[in-house]
Amino acid sequence: MAIYYEEQEQIFTLETVNSTYQMKVDRFGFLLHLYYGKRVSGSMEYLLTYYDRGFSGNPAAVGNDRTYSMDALPQEYPAMGTGDYRSSAVVIRNADGSACCDLRYVSHEIRRGKYGLQGLPAVYAGEEEAETLTLLLEDKVSGVQVQLLYGVLEKEDIITRSVRIVNGGLEQITVEKAASACLDFETGEYELLTFYGRHAMERNLQRMPVEHGNYMIGSRRGASSHQYNPAVILADRHTTEDMGNCYGMVFVYSGNFQCEAEKDQYGQTRLMMGLQSDYFRYPLAQGEALVVPETILAFSDRGLGGLSEKYHRCIREHICRGKYSRQTRPVLINSWEAAYFDFTGETICNLAGEAASLGIDMVVMDDGWFGKRNDDNSGLGDWQVNEKKLGCTLKELTDKVNEFGVKFGIWIEPEMVSEDSALYREHPDWAMRIPGREPVRSRNQLVLDFSRAEVREHIFNQICAVLDQGNIEYVKWDMNRSLMDFYSADRCPGKVTYDYVLGVYDFLEKLTRRYPDMLIEGCCGGGGRFDAGMLYYTPQIWCSDNTDAVDRVRIQYGTSFFYPVSAVGSHVSAVPNHQTGRSVSLHTRGVVAMAGTFGYELDPAKLSPAEKAEIREQVRDYKRHAALIQNGSYYRLSNPYEAAYGAWLFVAQNQEEALLNVVMLETHGNMTVSYVKLKGLAPEAVYEVTAADAEAGRIEDSGRLQAFTPGRRYFGSALMEAGLPVPVEMAEYPAYQVLLKKMI
Ligand code: GLA
Repeated sequence: MAIYYEEQEQIFTLETVNSTYQMKVDRFGFLLHLYYGKRVSGSMEYLLTYYDRGFSGNPAAVGNDRTYSMDALPQEYPAMGTGDYRSSAVVIRNADGSACCDLRYVSHEIRRGKYGLQGLPAVYAGEEEAETLTLLLEDKVSGVQVQLLYGVLEKEDIITRSVRIVNGGLEQITVEKAASACLDFETGEYELLTFYGRHAMERNLQRMPVEHGNYMIGSRRGASSHQYNPAVILADRHTTEDMGNCYGMVFVYSGNFQCEAEKDQYGQTRLMMGLQSDYFRYPLAQGEALVVPETILAFSDRGLGGLSEKYHRCIREHICRGKYSRQTRPVLINSWEAAYFDFTGETICNLAGEAASLGIDMVVMDDGWFGKRNDDNSGLGDWQVNEKKLGCTLKELTDKVNEFGVKFGIWIEPEMVSEDSALYREHPDWAMRIPGREPVRSRNQLVLDFSRAEVREHIFNQICAVLDQGNIEYVKWDMNRSLMDFYSADRCPGKVTYDYVLGVYDFLEKLTRRYPDMLIEGCCGGGGRFDAGMLYYTPQIWCSDNTDAVDRVRIQYGTSFFYPVSAVGSHVSAVPNHQTGRSVSLHTRGVVAMAGTFGYELDPAKLSPAEKAEIREQVRDYKRHAALIQNGSYYRLSNPYEAAYGAWLFVAQNQEEALLNVVMLETHGNMTVSYVKLKGLAPEAVYEVTAADAEAGRIEDSGRLQAFTPGRRYFGSALMEAGLPVPVEMAEYPAYQVLLKKMI
């Protein structure tokens, strides 16, 4: 049992292995939040305090008692209009124009298994793995009903929240704002960790104190965005990577979102995650419902690392679906940085030939194979194979690629249309634009109105007709601009942001059903839609258009706070790097790309025989470690924003093996030595360095005794408490990969 209801006191307790979550229906029917944190016993109602607070309103039901105010009480789902002047979780505009929704408890249900959400991705679990609590609240005057859904995955230490808003009244209402999770803390000094960025530089970590006022991040771009990831951490001021309390909120949604952290007049903190409200006005007629996407909550008392571990497991095992979700992924080579738009069928065959000789499993034909598409100004929407450009049919091409013993994958961008395309000429009204206004262009393309079923169906049929032509085993689903002209011929503009995302999900669901064995990689100019919603359909996402290994150390560090390595698309590309102009060794590029779904993004024909030999070895190494990388526990060993090095570690679940990765980020005269401390090993066990990479070998050759030398043995406790000295080299960005095996 993970969910308990104490009838006398009307207290609901949700329990996971390490956390307790508690709330209570009070004597007036309000649902008050009592506690979320490390496991505790008993009623936490004593935490509630009541004082006469000037300028804070009192509900009529309390009579003359001026100490009862929604403005000060911790609530489970604060609605606008009840006397709480903090930011609300839900704002409902009634038919008379007022914005009041006074939600009181009506009933509840506790059942086995995890709830699902119609049309939306959500954490899934077996009947035995989870329990669901549904709480029904109602505003008696308008008839608005709100179902609060809680999923408890006890063993995983995860609680999910979602909300269903139903118009149970006679008149139309409009939902103007809706969060799926709200956490009120009566006490504590917190810091908020958010992950901001830009195209080609996503998920940088920002840590800042939560002060008085309302701090908000989010996306108005139609996708979850490069700029802010829909996942945040609220940490006690002194929480570190390894120690202290912290809470996570991960939104399982790929569109506009909003996260708010507010410290109120009494020093109380409110954290909320939900739909972005600026472009959102969702009308509900009598009987209609709106489902607010799910937020995944987790609590860790073992610092940020402990929190990440829970999210990695939850996303890997309860979000990602399909054949590939738990399988190691094919090593692929992608044509984009190898050839951009300038390729023929022969180019792809040559890549396949090179791939075969290097041990690479799959070749991916990126943008440029369809319609009239020799640059990024035309052709989107015309999903017909450009046989003239390829010099063959798609079937012939995939057959030839397969003859090399190499799989074939293809790039698509279903949501977009170029004005210079047959599709646009035929259906200009299918692109999102506001009548009477010029559309806002981006990458010279417009966005198709995916909230409309007939638009989706047309594109779906075109794309399936392509995918059915040959043996296509992988699709890269791209999305290369932010949305702007939120308008639809079919529905009111306030619904478009949400219905668009549901349209994308509907398309993806149909695609995954029709091609259950196909691996789909999400992409949005790299990591512009890197979220748990997309991961429900695509178990991996191209992490960033930035393939520079040094920048990637930081981008992948930020990504690792929530998303497992199996979700992170990462490739070795050519030098000088096409995004930064920086050159780092092939070895370093390989080590960094191995912290993801490994692959290449370059033209092997341009490499020397020595480089090819190194790649062959790299691929062999990756395959040897792939299961450990994908299924092992991942530990961050440094903060690459502060340390002179980036380091991370994979440890097998049974602690028998560990793979240490270090990339030096700084070099100085008379360089100081960095010591990297390992984690997650068996302290009493002895580990032996069984394979150190080529560069470590090179250092050994130079005659200096190095900690990374094969054959050296260390106790797990020594590796964790004292660490290993990282070699000092006269070089920029050397990297080390060290395999440790438990001997005793
Ligand atoms: C986006 C992707 C790239 C590539 C191009 C093709 O930028 O992130 O990897 O596929 O589109 O146009």
